[in-house]
Amino acid sequence: MVSGNKKTLILILLSLFIVILFFNSVFIFPAFYAEPLSFGTLAVLVFTMSFFSAVVISTLLVYVLPQINTEISLSKKFTRLDSLNHPLLLKLSTQAPGSYHHSINVANLSHQAAKSIGANAALVRIASYYHDIGKIIHPETYIENQNGRKIINNNLSQINKVAKIITNHALSGKEIAKEYDLPDEIIQIISEHHGTTSAKFLFDQAKEFGSPDIKNFRYPGPKPQTVESLIVMLADCIEAAAKGLKDLDRVNIAKLVDNTIKEKIDEKQFSNINFSSSDYQKIRNSFIKTLLSMYHQRIVNKEYNEN
Ligand SMILES: [Fe+2]
Ligand SMILES: [Fe+2]
Repeated sequence: MVSGNKKTLILILLSLFIVILFFNSVFIFPAFYAEPLSFGTLAVLVFTMSFFSAVVISTLLVYVLPQINTEISLSKKFTRLDSLNHPLLLKLSTQAPGSYHHSINVANLSHQAAKSIGANAALVRIASYYHDIGKIIHPETYIENQNGRKIINNNLSQINKVAKIITNHALSGKEIAKEYDLPDEIIQIISEHHGTTSAKFLFDQAKEFGSPDIKNFRYPGPKPQTVESLIVMLADCIEAAAKGLKDLDRVNIAKLVDNTIKEKIDEKQFSNINFSSSDYQKIRNSFIKTLLSMYHQRIVNKEYNEN
């Protein structure tokens, strides 16, 4: 049985062979005809030339065209995902509005940071939109969706339950992304955006009620494998931490950015990435600049209220 790909190759090869043979016979054959070559030698020459040209062109067509097609359809897919009207984002915006808003802010932060070092800014922006889609499952567990009504956990087993849901959202996100046929590059960032860090705020809460096991508070990973993945991880934590900052001035924002990056380095989340100190500086400065512009209105309002 001849496979579909082979059938196409044979068909293209035959048609090209006939076309090239025809052109060679019309243009090359008469040119050599005046030369002292026998008719038989000329015929073999034209036949061989036609055959090899057909093989080269048809192989190129069969193996290069699908790749070009894949790239075109991938870029179409990315354009569709870049729209905030994507059904998955609409679902996030209605079921977990706080997480949706957070994701838009993460997209702003990560896009600018990626641009500052020449990383794939479009990929990080789109991946940021979708990084927390796993929060569609149990959205009320996450503080950003609690509308200021902070849910208090008052025993260890309850905290362990919450920790299980929270540390699982990257994996759930990966599954949802697959269901919606998101590209692999985005699925990779979704699963790596917490790396192998731990949900410290919950662990600290749990310590008040007994001796919790840190393993229950750790995200399953993997750690970021690409610069784009690492940028989303940092933007994610920086955005979440900035929400809790009372004084959003340049000094405090710079401190917050530096602390977040240091924390991720200490947790060895940078270990798979080759990051120069100049990249580090550029990303750091970009985060500070974007945060300052994002929270500019909050700073102005605060100054206005104080006066
Ligand atoms: Fe997350
Ligand atoms: Fe997030």
